[in-house]
Amino acid sequence: MNDLSANEMRWRTPAVVGFLLAVALAAGSPTHPSRVAAAARSQALGSSNEGSGFTGQIAPILLKNCMACHASATKMGGLVMENYAFLMKGGAHGPVIVPGKSGESRMVLMLEGKVQPRMPFGGDPLPAADIAAIKAWIDAGAKGPAPGEAAAPAPALTIPDIKPQVPVVSPVGSIAYSPDGKLLAVGGYKEVRLMDAASGKALATLSGHADLVRSVAFSHDGKWLAAAGGLPARSGEIKIWDVESHQLLRTIEGHKDCIYSVSVAASPEGKIVASGSYDKLIKLWDVETGKELRTLKDHIDAVFAVAFSPDGKRLASGSQDRTVKVWDVASGQRLFTLSDALDGLTTITYHPSGKQLAAAGYDKTIRVWDLTDKGGTLANSMISDEDIILQLAYARDGNVLVSTSADRSIRFRDAVSLNPIKDLDDQPDWVEAISVSPDGKWLAAGRYNGTVSIYDCATYRQVLGPLVAFEPYKPGVTTAERGTAVGSRQ
Ligand code: HEC
Repeated sequence: MNDLSANEMRWRTPAVVGFLLAVALAAGSPTHPSRVAAAARSQALGSSNEGSGFTGQIAPILLKNCMACHASATKMGGLVMENYAFLMKGGAHGPVIVPGKSGESRMVLMLEGKVQPRMPFGGDPLPAADIAAIKAWIDAGAKGPAPGEAAAPAPALTIPDIKPQVPVVSPVGSIAYSPDGKLLAVGGYKEVRLMDAASGKALATLSGHADLVRSVAFSHDGKWLAAAGGLPARSGEIKIWDVESHQLLRTIEGHKDCIYSVSVAASPEGKIVASGSYDKLIKLWDVETGKELRTLKDHIDAVFAVAFSPDGKRLASGSQDRTVKVWDVASGQRLFTLSDALDGLTTITYHPSGKQLAAAGYDKTIRVWDLTDKGGTLANSMISDEDIILQLAYARDGNVLVSTSADRSIRFRDAVSLNPIKDLDDQPDWVEAISVSPDGKWLAAGRYNGTVSIYDCATYRQVLGPLVAFEPYKPGVTTAERGTAVGSRQ
């Protein structure tokens, strides 16, 4: 991998990433349909020039930054912002505004990145002044437009220019090395990209997923790939792909909300995939038949991470309910709960020896437990990053623990002391997906801005990337027309 020149390493210029989701509101003539629509929307929201309250201050912020994806035609996350009533109704997860309580309002939490994905999706965070204005409006009761106000036609001059200012990309939602280390599966919005791990060249696109592919895992023989996600507040989905032929083998549907994590068991028990969902449940699936084997029910909040032990006999789960639970795969019994964490857990990983488990999340602390058959004792814990910890993975035979954080860092740590050996704290965006190659030498990192880089775990140098994992999305063009039908070669 080191022999490659910088140019060969790039399979696509990382300059302008254009995964323009619904931001088709490209600049056009004044009669361009989207301009007309924009004018209509701006009237609906009511953008008079008052400079305060919902109509004067809040509506213009939403119109400029959010409407491309939250109009009734696009309705992402089930949320429509075309008028006050729709906004207050909320989205797929219910109300997004709690009048009087900005700190409990999903919209604010997402603008601040405290609930993922951060909004505006794929773009830069809103200016602090805009977020402050939204918070102040909510804390003052989130009042609607005064009677008659919204109906007033907006003066032409105040129609904001909503041509896209930020190219919207698909975030990298998930990444995994194949067992032979030759392939990388990269999960994004509605598709998975298979890449050559040495050159970064795109080999195939696996399309047809319901939404963001939040987790990917190869089978231990490398023959198939499980890619999971689903529709928020609706259903979970796992697609099983044949790695060689790029054919879809099976679509498994289950859960009442999207799946955040999948793990594939190393054999004795057969071809088992585990899924953890926002619906608080873990399910075990038989990949051959697509049948549900078991539901593991004990978490009282969303399950963000599941991981089989290296021998495949145990499953560990990490949840927003602050606990790690360890389950016996054959019987489905919960063996024990580790409840040291002070806030929700986003990531868990077994040490390659299977004797330790590491977990981290919202309390910015990495914890490592020594495991026995009956329980776990805290071996180490360290407040380790300045913001939420997003991912953990062991590298170099379990001697190094890699963490990524919403403080925009990747940190390589001594796996015993947890002290950082090397900080890469200048990441251009959140590293939400990582995978270590099976030989423990390379780290693949996927970012919120749609890029992927590969680092050498011995020198900590970037040896490949940043690569743009996902090509521009043209709204209105179907997946097939984009030439990304199942199995198509790039
Ligand atoms: C480029 C598209 C895009 C833009 C721009 C955008 N969003 Fe979103 N939004 C989404 C998507 C996609 C989801 C669903 C995310 C998920 O649940 O994984 C979403 C979900 C949400 C939700 C959660 C709805 C629910 O109930 O789950 C809120 C709140 C939200 N957005 C607020 C905003 C705000 C405020 C802005 C503008 C500052 C904004 N969004 C801009 C795409 C966008």
